[in-house]
Amino acid sequence: FHSHLDESIRPYIDLIDTLRSVGIHKDLALPTIVVIGDQSSGKSSVLEALSGVALPRGSGIVTRCPLELRLKKVPGVKWKAVLTYDKKTNESVNLFAGPIKPSKLAIGNVAQSAPTQKKIEFADPSLVERHVAAAQNELAGKGVGISEELITLEIMSPDVCDLTLIDLPGIARVPVEGQPEDIGKQIKRLIMKYIKKRETINLVVVPCNIDIATTEALKMAQEVDPEGKRTLAILTKPDLIDKGTEKSILDIVHNNVIPLRKGYIVVKCRGQQQIDDKIPLEDATQMERDFFQNHDYFRCLLEEDKVTIKCLAIKLTQDLVDHIKNSLPQLQEQIQKQLWSVKTALKACEAGPPEDLEGAKEFLIETLNGFNEEIKSLSSGEPSTEKNV
Ligand code: GDP
Ligand code: NA
Ligand code: MG
Repeated sequence: FHSHLDESIRPYIDLIDTLRSVGIHKDLALPTIVVIGDQSSGKSSVLEALSGVALPRGSGIVTRCPLELRLKKVPGVKWKAVLTYDKKTNESVNLFAGPIKPSKLAIGNVAQSAPTQKKIEFADPSLVERHVAAAQNELAGKGVGISEELITLEIMSPDVCDLTLIDLPGIARVPVEGQPEDIGKQIKRLIMKYIKKRETINLVVVPCNIDIATTEALKMAQEVDPEGKRTLAILTKPDLIDKGTEKSILDIVHNNVIPLRKGYIVVKCRGQQQIDDKIPLEDATQMERDFFQNHDYFRCLLEEDKVTIKCLAIKLTQDLVDHIKNSLPQLQEQIQKQLWSVKTALKACEAGPPEDLEGAKEFLIETLNGFNEEIKSLSSGEPSTEKNV
C-alpha cells in the first residue's frame, strides 16, 4: 500500500495500540476505527480487502464478538498473527455456580473477577477463520448468540497497511432460530457502545443496491455524529446496482444527499462467485480498478479519489493518524486528572499512624473499619458468599 506514509504514521498507531494493550481503554476512550452495517452489507469483504486476510464470513450472523484487527506493516518478516482474548477462569465459573468452600472464599472475590488472557500465535493465514470462530464459540457460546468481549487479532506482514479496525456484529432485522427475540436490540446496543465515543471513526458499510438514506447503520451514525465529522460511508456492491440508479448514486457520493464531512468511497469487493472461484485478492484489486475504469458513470470517481479499496486504505490511515493527533491533548489531560486523584489518595496514606498511643489506636480502628467496609462491599450482591461467612 502507501509506503510514503509509513514513517510518519507508525508511531501514532503504535502509541494507541500500546495504551490499549495495557488496558487503558477501560478507563479512557482511545481513537479507533469501527466498522458497522447491516448483515451481508459487505463489512467482512471490506476488512478482508484491506487486510489481505480471509475473515470468517457467510450469510447470517458470522461476527458474534467485537473483533479488533491490528494490522502492522513490518518489512521483511514472514506473515504472523497473534490472537488474544480474555477468558474467565474455570475457577471463577465454579465460584459463581456451585456452593463455595471456605478455602476458596479466602481468595474469593479477588480471584473470581480476574480473567486470564488466552493467546494463540500462528503463521498460516488460512487458520484465521478457524481461530476466530473458536474464540467466538468460547466467548459467545456455540450457535448464534453474541458477546461484548473483545477478540484481538494482530497481523504482522510486509503486505498489510498500518491500521487498527474493529469489526462488529452486523445489524440483524429478524432473529434466526435460537436467537433471543431482542437480538437486534442487543447488537444495536453493542454498536452504540462503540460509535457513540467521540474518539471513534465510524465506518458505515452500505450496499449500493439498497435505499441508502434509510440504512439503519447510517441512521445510528448520524444520531451520534449529527455533523458527520467522524463518519465515513463505504458504498459496496457497485456492480449490483439497478440500471438507471447510477446518477442517484453519484449524487450521494458527491455529498449532495446525506452530507458527511468525511464523505463517501465506493469499493468493489469479490462477489460470492469470485470467492467460490478462488480469485486471489491481488487479482480482485486489478479487477476492481478495471471495473471503475470501464464504468460509464463511475469512471470520473477514480480521478476524484472516491473509489477503490486502495484509496480507502490511504484515506483511513491518514484519518486515523489525524484523529489520534487531535485526541492526544485530551488524552493527556484525562491521564493527568486520574494521576492527580490517585496521588491525592496516596498522600492521605503517607503520614502513617500518629506517634501517641491514643491516636495510634484510633488510627488502627479507622483503618480496620475501612478494611471491613471494603470487604463488605466486595461480597455484597453475592448471597451464597454471605451465607458461608
Ligand atoms: P458482512 O455480513 O457485512 O460481513 O458481508 P460479507 O462481507 O460477508 O458479504 C456478503 C456477501 O456480499 C458475500 O457473498 C460477498 O461476496 C458479497 N459482496 C461483498 N462485496 C461485494 C461487491 O462489491 N460486489 C459483489 N458482487 N458482491 C459483494
Ligand atoms: Na455475513
Ligand atoms: Mg461479516
